[in-house]
Amino acid sequence: MKGVILAGGLGTRLLPLTKITNKHLLPVHDKPMIYYPIQTLINAGIRDILIVTGGNHAGDFLRLLGNGSEFGLGHINYTYQEGEGGIAEALRLAEYFAGDDRICVVLGDNIIEKNILRTAQAFKSQPSGAKILLKEVPDPERFGVPVLDGGRVVKIEEKPETPRSKYAVTGIYMYDNTVFDIIKTLKPSGRGELEITDVNNAYIERGELTWDILDGWWTDAGTFESLRKAGNLVADGGANRI
Ligand code: G1P
Repeated sequence: MKGVILAGGLGTRLLPLTKITNKHLLPVHDKPMIYYPIQTLINAGIRDILIVTGGNHAGDFLRLLGNGSEFGLGHINYTYQEGEGGIAEALRLAEYFAGDDRICVVLGDNIIEKNILRTAQAFKSQPSGAKILLKEVPDPERFGVPVLDGGRVVKIEEKPETPRSKYAVTGIYMYDNTVFDIIKTLKPSGRGELEITDVNNAYIERGELTWDILDGWWTDAGTFESLRKAGNLVADGGANRI
């Protein structure tokens, strides 16, 4: 399985910080944010990694990460997203990189305490489809929220006003190669983006989406509140340390 980190976007919820840099280069405690998703993939045994970025500061990723020697890697792949079309639109750019392989996609602002190795191994023995990771949160309305029925995810609702479960769909997704065919069928949502939630719902309709509960703490870091929370969690308890 190959790894894809989505690190584009304008980061408007963090203005004015993101006026002069990319959100994923901002500090989370003692490391740039992007370090954490890279380590998440490496801890899952994935060494072939693509970073999708965009905007005015894309060159800084290369200056920061180079070939990934700090992570024990010999090479990192990069690609550039023109414009802002949403998470699924960014993922489309990974098609050439994935080839015939499966991919593990991590949103560049998602930080976890432990690791996803067990889930990645379970996904490898799943014949096809997708696997997502859920986490119980106090504020599910900020996220994709699964509707559960007898242990099955029957639907995911994106930022619902009235969440139908207490779980968030975390920004760590495992997909087979048909994900790129699904993306080609998507239409932009109300916020004008190709939504990752629509990708996951397509797998649900096929009966091919499985899920796990993520072990340990999880946070995004795309708002001032969550950025501060992420820094505190890393400082207090250590994330999947680099
Ligand atoms: C995105 C996804 C959402 C998911 C979240 C995880 O939201 O759309 O389904 O729960 O990432 O961090 P965004 O951060 O783009 O609002």
